[in-house]
Amino acid sequence: MLRETGVFLHADRIMRRGVVAAAALSLVLPAFAAEPVKIGMVAPFSGVAADFGKQMHAGMNAWMKIHGDTVAGRKIEVLVRDTGGPNPDVAKRLSQELVTRDKVDFLAGYGFTPEAMASAPVATEAKKPMIVMNAASSVVTTRSPYIVRFSMTLPQVSEPMAKWAAKNGIKKVYTLVTDYAPGIDAEKQFVATFKAAGGEIVDSVRTPLRNPDFGPYVQRIKDAKPDGVFIFVPAGEQSVAFMKAFEERGLAQAGIRIVATGDLTDDDVLQSMGAPVVGVITSHHYSAHHDSPENKAFVKAFHEVAPDLPRPNFMAVGGYDGMAAIAEVVKKLGNDIDGDKAMQILEQIKLTSPRGPIHIDPATRDIVQTVYIRRVQKVGDQYYNVEFDKYPDVRDPGKLGDKK
Ligand code: PHB
Repeated sequence: MLRETGVFLHADRIMRRGVVAAAALSLVLPAFAAEPVKIGMVAPFSGVAADFGKQMHAGMNAWMKIHGDTVAGRKIEVLVRDTGGPNPDVAKRLSQELVTRDKVDFLAGYGFTPEAMASAPVATEAKKPMIVMNAASSVVTTRSPYIVRFSMTLPQVSEPMAKWAAKNGIKKVYTLVTDYAPGIDAEKQFVATFKAAGGEIVDSVRTPLRNPDFGPYVQRIKDAKPDGVFIFVPAGEQSVAFMKAFEERGLAQAGIRIVATGDLTDDDVLQSMGAPVVGVITSHHYSAHHDSPENKAFVKAFHEVAPDLPRPNFMAVGGYDGMAAIAEVVKKLGNDIDGDKAMQILEQIKLTSPRGPIHIDPATRDIVQTVYIRRVQKVGDQYYNVEFDKYPDVRDPGKLGDKK
């Protein structure tokens, strides 16, 4: 009996201690209990397009450098996955693993259109917001109601280029684009807008996505004697290869002007292209040279977080703004990040980006932004895309009138 009572007393003491301990814990818990916000980032980080992932990721890190890595008491954790791409099947598998195994709250990144397209059903099935930071073919956002885009679309940047060319003495154009969705989007939009403005298309050619040899294509363009050539190739490796062929075949000396989307004079590789690229006219949504306080702060933070990259390019600004949008969602939803509620917030996003004012069109979940016309110039000892004209509030013309 005595023993029983003793046992009982002991148990009671333990219980009471437990209650006190739990009460004490609950006082400190809110600071510890908040789970991190998990962002699963899918992009190439190795291979020819390694800088796609590095630029987008550095853009996200630059946002956190400026604004901190904790939002509404929750730390932001970015889980980076390398597709080695363009590699749609790998992108889909990695997206799936991030959702099912790592339980991410958001999917993000996506450099190449085919990688975004392949991953779209994963976002739909899991009801996870998918923040596209580059993939730029018009159709991408139609592939899932959970996709929202913070980059651009090729029709969106090609239309102003065609208008500008037609107004500035370029009458006959040869087009050259990469033979996949973004290139075909760019070509179609440029041709339609340029013809509507009275221009003539001499001929159009599409080059392979993998390892194109631009020499023969560029020679044919030279022989056709157009006033100008309109170009879209994926940024980076291909921009460099195209400009090399253009220079070797003497097209500038033959009086053929380049008008292109800004992918050709990508800030990531512009400096290494050197003098032959001076004077090239492009249209795009971001230049590292953009003159605004937001961009100055962004460029500074970017150099701090990514000392190995030359400067931020358009993919980095997609990463930065995508991160800003995710932070808005976390601020509003706190610990309860539900995919549908998150999409309602993302559809209303409006930001002063380092590129200028941007907002999301709720009808298409695509970005509305200023498109700049720029000319490559030497500024100090560096080559830059210097903006000299602009088209504000451009929507994706590839989707005008469309619903979700
Ligand atoms: C794309 O695949 O959507 C893409 C890739 C590189 C670019 C632009 C678009 O420079």
